[in-house]
Amino acid sequence: MSLIKLYFTPSLLLLVLSCPLWQPGQSMPMVIKDPVTDDCVSCGRVLLQNITEALSRNDLFHGINCTEQSVELNTETNTPSVCAPMESACSGNSGRPEFHEDSCRTNIREDLHHYYKFLAAQPDPAKGLEQTLFSVKEVMESCFPRSQYTDLASQQAAKPSNTYEERLRLCKVLKGFQVRTITINRALGYIKSVEQTL
Ligand SMILES: *[C@@H]1O[C@H](CO)[C@@H](O)[C@H](O)[C@H]1NC(C)=O
Ligand SMILES: *[C@@H]1O[C@H](CO)[C@@H](O)[C@H](O)[C@H]1NC(C)=O
Repeated sequence: MSLIKLYFTPSLLLLVLSCPLWQPGQSMPMVIKDPVTDDCVSCGRVLLQNITEALSRNDLFHGINCTEQSVELNTETNTPSVCAPMESACSGNSGRPEFHEDSCRTNIREDLHHYYKFLAAQPDPAKGLEQTLFSVKEVMESCFPRSQYTDLASQQAAKPSNTYEERLRLCKVLKGFQVRTITINRALGYIKSVEQTL
């Protein structure tokens, strides 16, 4: 019993002592962060509107009832988990849940980049994706002004139209992008609110 106490006490003490010193966003001191601006937040909202609008266009999904299709999410990123505020042992002290802000931002940036490249590669004769593509770029530029993207030249696929399988995939991926954008917008709003209280 006393042995257990001896083992536990120093680490508990360390935890208690280190908690009040810890602040969200300060875990990686050398990272220079751009603040989340009003522009960034509003571009995120416009993007969601544009994706929703694109999903309602029948010309993009000819022969497919997109409402009935499943959602295909981008699994190359961990945005939903790293952007979710977590309960931590210290949250009682700091009054704020722990939040992996740096990974959250990185994952958001990777998501946007991923979806931009996917959408840019779609044949889009009716220009049903143009507004969404433009919107994604706006979010990237306003939320991550320091990032350099070398491969964002809008190189539309040469093919004049897409096949049934391609339209089906577009529908599922776009639905996933809609869900992901809701997560992204919530996270950007959260980061902004934390920044305002610091
Ligand atoms: C995209 O959203 C913006 C802002 O709501 C709007 O002005 C624009 O018309 C939208 N584009 C489409 C195609 O819905
Ligand atoms: C697509 O499916 C939904 C849900 O099953 C249905 O409510 C809607 O009427 C369908 N739309 C068309 C154009 O068939």
